Amino acid sequence: MVKPMRDVDSMSHGQDVPAIEVNGLTVRFPVRGGVLGKVKDYFTAVDNVSFVLPQGKILSIVGESGCGKSTLVKSLVGLVPAEPFDYKLFGAPVVNGKIAGGKRVCDLVQMVFQDPFSSLNPRQTVVEILTAPLVARGVSFDDARDRARRLLDRVSIPDGALDKFPHEFSGGQRQRLCIARSLMVEPKVLLCDEVTSALDVSVQAQILHLLDDLRNDLGLSILFISHDMQVVRALSDDVLVMYFGKVVERGIADIVLTEPQHEYTKKLLASVPVIRR
Ligand SMILES: Nc1ncnc2c1ncn2[C@@H]1O[C@H](COP(=O)(O)OP(=O)(O)O)[C@@H](O)[C@H]1O
Ligand SMILES: [Mg+2]
Repeated sequence: MVKPMRDVDSMSHGQDVPAIEVNGLTVRFPVRGGVLGKVKDYFTAVDNVSFVLPQGKILSIVGESGCGKSTLVKSLVGLVPAEPFDYKLFGAPVVNGKIAGGKRVCDLVQMVFQDPFSSLNPRQTVVEILTAPLVARGVSFDDARDRARRLLDRVSIPDGALDKFPHEFSGGQRQRLCIARSLMVEPKVLLCDEVTSALDVSVQAQILHLLDDLRNDLGLSILFISHDMQVVRALSDDVLVMYFGKVVERGIADIVLTEPQHEYTKKLLASVPVIRR
């Protein structure tokens, strides 16, 4: 039985305009069949989802594999097309990837992906990878390189990294490079999709600490996807529980994760392994 969801207001912290406000987000993928590959039907991967990410907070999206988490965040930066929906960034409406006032969504919102191995071009050096987004925006290469150097220091990548290639770094270091790249354009929001899932357990905590520090130091707002409920519990302010594309429960993380109302959230929490000593 679907229990009523907690009031959306219980997720707002303070009076600031939210970093992200989304109402009625739906993504449908065509289902093709037959020899000609004609569209036979549509599959709804994200179904009428609404949420608010308050400024400077971490909102986690949880739910089992295939429930639509990645599709949801990708649609926010135009990587998958969504049906028309109500989307505001810092109070300004977003239409076709453009924010009222002239900026593009990618100027304010950057994504960090799960796999730091495939998301860095193996043929480019670190300096090429990091400076590209700024150079594309008309910043001089020297200025972009200076910023890259500062950011590498901020994410604790050792000196001398600029002229190296991605394969010369460990998985954790590559994810630090991805985070540095995402910060080059000085975004205000990070979308982090399972950013620690491909890493060794010992490295995961370091990356999570880095994200939390960056949130505090830079005032970033973070949409964080994870299937690891312990990580979610440790990091999040708010949580959104998805099930087959729909939001089934939402609220302040401490409350939702200690007193889940929905049967599905209870099952997700029950599946967290308990380590007995
Ligand atoms: N490009 C696509 N075309 C068709 N179906 C897709 C595509 N991307 C994702 N899907 C489907 O949408 C659903 C949600 O996928 P996804 O957002 O990746 O889930 P999650 O990130 O929660 O594991 C899955 O059933 C997946 O197979
Ligand atoms: Mg995913």
